[in-house]
Amino acid sequence: MAFFTQQVIRGFSSSAVRNVVIKNVMIIGGGQMGAGIAQVAAATGHSVTLVDMSEDILKKSVKGIEGSLKRVVKKKFADKPEAGEEFVQKVLQKVSISTDVEATAQGSDLVLEAIIENLKIKQDLFGRLDKRAPAHTIFASNTSSLPITDIASSTSRLDRFGGLHFFNPVPMMKLVEVIGTSATSQDTFDSLLNFTKALGKTPVSCKDTPGFIVNRLLVPYMLEALRLHEKGHGSKEDIDIAMKLGAGYPMGPFELCDYVGLDTIKFIIDGWCALDPGNPLFAPSEMLNKLVAEGKFGKKNGEGFYKYK
Ligand code: CAA
Ligand code: NAD
Repeated sequence: MAFFTQQVIRGFSSSAVRNVVIKNVMIIGGGQMGAGIAQVAAATGHSVTLVDMSEDILKKSVKGIEGSLKRVVKKKFADKPEAGEEFVQKVLQKVSISTDVEATAQGSDLVLEAIIENLKIKQDLFGRLDKRAPAHTIFASNTSSLPITDIASSTSRLDRFGGLHFFNPVPMMKLVEVIGTSATSQDTFDSLLNFTKALGKTPVSCKDTPGFIVNRLLVPYMLEALRLHEKGHGSKEDIDIAMKLGAGYPMGPFELCDYVGLDTIKFIIDGWCALDPGNPLFAPSEMLNKLVAEGKFGKKNGEGFYKYK
């Protein structure tokens, strides 16, 4: 519960490490978010190494980046297709792939993690990397819901650890939430803030509280839509149409759950429910649990509330 009322007083850097200009970025997790962040970082001139558990996953990530870049250039270079193709190739050259997480960390100014939403797995990963990464390297997590303080606790670089929370789809969504814990140094926070600006995004500063700003509002809204449907108060199609046409949202809540990933939504809500069990905003959903148990994670694997080609 203390976590829900935490106040942040920014720490001063205990190390001699000052404002790091981030050029070499290591992104761990080549899924929807990691691939999107890699794309945007490479397109803005950063050298990116994308790391995941297998070559096959990484090949899919790069294919996804290429597909997404082509969608971007189709609009940006509408009357100059050759310049568009050149841009795609130039960006792809800025992206390397690797399955060797520890070796890659050695050449990075920033290690940005976008793996499964599981505290223990994130802690283990950062704990290992802490021993291998150079002193100046900043660590950041793209977690949707976990306390950055808890993830950072497995490392000895608490002053050089923060949160960078991107939104899906990364190439389209302009916001990044920048999270400082009570131990994050001002230099680290500024470096992270400057990095998001260098990506062409708009940052907002967030406290290390569950869901920061956006998810603290968005996830209870999505869960409430599920509860409305579970109670028989509306079909999922009608609820989606209602929120798009009545509230001007680009996607309805069921479409958005599928887009984010039902596994991720379940990790988020289960984590918050465990922290604050009596809070009706964080009550689990039977329907969500059933779909996840059936392996239906949404758009990313072909079926969730809806089916995808
Ligand atoms: N990469 C590149 N370009 C893309 C893209 C992508 N992944 N997705 C969309 N675009 C661009 C393309 O130019 C596309 O045109 P083409 O289809 O001709 O290529 C254009 O946008 C329009 O796309 P769509 O026709 O697919 O649909 P749209 O107009 O509805 O836009 C959207 C798509 C931007 C995703 C929009 O529906 C939207 O904003 N949805 C809400 C997304 C949202 O709320 N995200 C936050 C989720 S919560 C989160 O991320 C935090 C968390 O921790 C869970
Ligand atoms: P995803 O399932 O699409 O991808 C996760 C990737 O991480 C997979 O490719 C997986 O192979 C890889 N991975 C898992 N464990 C790993 C490990 N130990 N080492 C290396 N790679 C590993 O998930 P996602 O939607 O990209 O979400 C990733 C993170 O970003 C989560 O923390 C999630 O909460 C957060 N996030 C998600 C969204 C969203 O809308 N999906 C938005 C913002 C933040």
